[in-house]
Parts: sequence; structure tokens; C-alpha cells
Amino acid sequence: MKVITNRKYGPPEVLKLEEWEIPIPKENQIQIRIINTAVNTGDWRIRKPDPKVVRLYFGILKPKNVILGACYAGIVEAVGKKVTSFKVGDRVLGSRGIKMGAYAEYICEEENALVTKLPNTMSFAEGAAISFGGLTALDFIKRCNIQNGQSVVIYGASSSVGSSAIQLAKHFGAHVTAVSSQGNFDLVKSLGADETYDYESFIASHHQYDVFIECVGKSEIPMNLDHLKKGGHLVLVGANFGQMWDAFCLKVFKKLNIHFGPIEERLDHLHYLISLVNLGTYKVNIDRKFPLEDMVSAHRYVEAGHKKGNVVVDVTKEK
Ligand SMILES: NC(=O)c1ccc[n+]([C@@H]2O[C@H](COP(=O)([O-])OP(=O)(O)OC[C@H]3O[C@@H](n4cnc5c(N)ncnc54)[C@H](OP(=O)(O)O)[C@@H]3O)[C@@H](O)[C@H]2O)c1
Repeated sequence: MKVITNRKYGPPEVLKLEEWEIPIPKENQIQIRIINTAVNTGDWRIRKPDPKVVRLYFGILKPKNVILGACYAGIVEAVGKKVTSFKVGDRVLGSRGIKMGAYAEYICEEENALVTKLPNTMSFAEGAAISFGGLTALDFIKRCNIQNGQSVVIYGASSSVGSSAIQLAKHFGAHVTAVSSQGNFDLVKSLGADETYDYESFIASHHQYDVFIECVGKSEIPMNLDHLKKGGHLVLVGANFGQMWDAFCLKVFKKLNIHFGPIEERLDHLHYLISLVNLGTYKVNIDRKFPLEDMVSAHRYVEAGHKKGNVVVDVTKEK
């Protein structure tokens, strides 16, 4: 099978196409032929690595696991003898989180991992793209306990996390203001934003909101707090270590409602997102598709930081 490896840290060009043996499922595993995977921010951050501290977990001198890729959708091709909830031919989607390994034509996944059936209402590309931004936005939005009629501002609204957060905040009854570049106003409005600002005019504005969701780690905490009502919730999805320390201090010493740090990827949250797709209230925004052989270009594009929603990769053919 074809896989894309990163045997060393570095620029997108470290990604190489290799031929590997197809993995055989153990008795509690399913073997999945991947139709689509996604290239997410987490992937290039580990490849580079950025931040450098990534090496502590993923390998000091070189990557321990040499296949990136968290999110995927595909078809079950074989099942271990103890597997009861999946059968050959099932369409499935899932996320391997930091275990990675989805830049491959085949993977074996534990039956009780973060994997579930892909409904016929969704394409494989949507299945691969839904988890990263969707699970992140849902986890943080649930922590804010958004009430009907509250005001929510989403900064970096055209990102993978932002494009999901707009739709989820709307779903929970909020009035949503999206902050993005002007070129993305149509996109964020199509996802449900009630109002739009570009970055500069937002910073100059004096509106305050019940919830501020900073999706991309590109603004300063004092500016975020200036736009937050007393008692409001600030979410720092893409905070760096310095911002996390500042946020921790504000949380502990000033008792502010600030949410940051890694999310928990949950199967019930994935089911919830899928149910919203089925209801027609949630759309998976796909910006571009690349072939597996052109993973280098996919990484270059995502790392440039201007994708709109999600980028997916064609791995094997559907039929
Ligand atoms: N806490 C967690 O567990 C967790 C989970 C997932 C992701 N994250 C983090 O969340 C962040 C967002 O990830 P993502 O994949 O959603 O990002 P992404 O899709 O790669 O973000 C791209 C978007 O960022 C916008 N952008 C670029 N420069 C900007 C600026 N200066 N100000 C505001 N927006 C700007 C771009 O819009 P324009 O082109 O219009 O500028 C583009 O649409 C990353 O830092 C990621 O590491 C954290």
C-alpha cells in the first residue's frame, strides 16, 4: 500500500511516498481502506515541528511515528473475529488524534476507537474533514454553556475551527459575529454569521460579547478581554505557551472564565456533529482537495495559514 512518511522533521519536502505492507487486523480491530484523509494544522505543526517542544512527545531527534494524518473516512475491508459493531463494506469515519497514521491506503483501528459509521448523507471527503475543526469547536462551545440569545464573536472565523464554531454557536441560539478577512465574508455569512468584521475594524470597535472564541491564536488577550462582557467566556483555541500561562494566571487570580488547552475528542461529540449534518444544520466546509502523491503541496497550502475550512486528500478510489 501507499503511505506518506515523515522520517525526519522539516519542511513539507520531508514527506515521501513509500510502499508498505497492508496491515492485518487483530481480533478486536477493523481494517479500513481510506478513501479520504485530511491535512490539519496539527499535521504540519508535528512535521515541522512548531512549537519545538513537540519533539518531547513525538521524538527528540526524529519522529517516532513516521506516518502523519489524524482524520479519515473509508470502507471496512476486513474485521477481526471479536469485532461485533462493524462489518465488511461499512462506510466509516474517525480520528486517530495524536496517534496519527492516516496518510495511508489502509489502517487497522480498534473497534472501540474514535470510529463510527459514515451515513450515506455524507461524502467520504466530508467524513474526513468533519472531526478536526468540528470536535474542537464543539468541545470548547460546550464549556461556555451558550444560552439562547447570547452574543458570540468568532475570531478567525474562516478557519477549520472557526467555520465549525459559527454553525455550532448558531445552533445553540447565539447571535454570531464573525471576524475574518473581507474576502471570506460571503463564506462566513453562508455558514450563518449574523454580522461580519474584518480584523482591523473589529479591533477598533467597542462592542462587547458574552462569548469570545479566538480560533487561530493571532490576537492578544487584552484585546480579547476588551471585547468581553463582565462574566463572559473567553476561548483561546490556538493559544501558544505564553498565552496559556497568561490565561492560567487570569483564570486563577482574577477568576475569569477562560478556556484553553487540548480538547478531548469524544465519540458522542462526533455522533452529535453527524446528527446535525443529517438535520441539515451543519455543513462541512471543504476548501481544496489534493491527491495523496501531492501531499507536499497540501502541507504547503495548509501551513501558509489561509485555508478556508478544511483540506482533504484523495487516498484510494471510492469504487
Ligand atoms: N486546543 C486544541 O485542542 C486545538 C485543536 C485543534 C486546533 N487547535 C489550534 O487552533 C488553531 C486553528 O486551527 P485551524 O486548523 O482551524 O486553523 P486554519 O484552518 O489553518 O486557519 C486558517 C484561517 O486562519 C485565518 N487567519 C490567518 N491569519 C490570520 C490573522 N492574522 N488573524 C485572524 N485570522 C487569520 C485565515 O483567514 P484569512 O486568510 O482570511 O486571513 C484562514 O482562513 C491552530 O493554532 C491549531 O493549532 C487547537
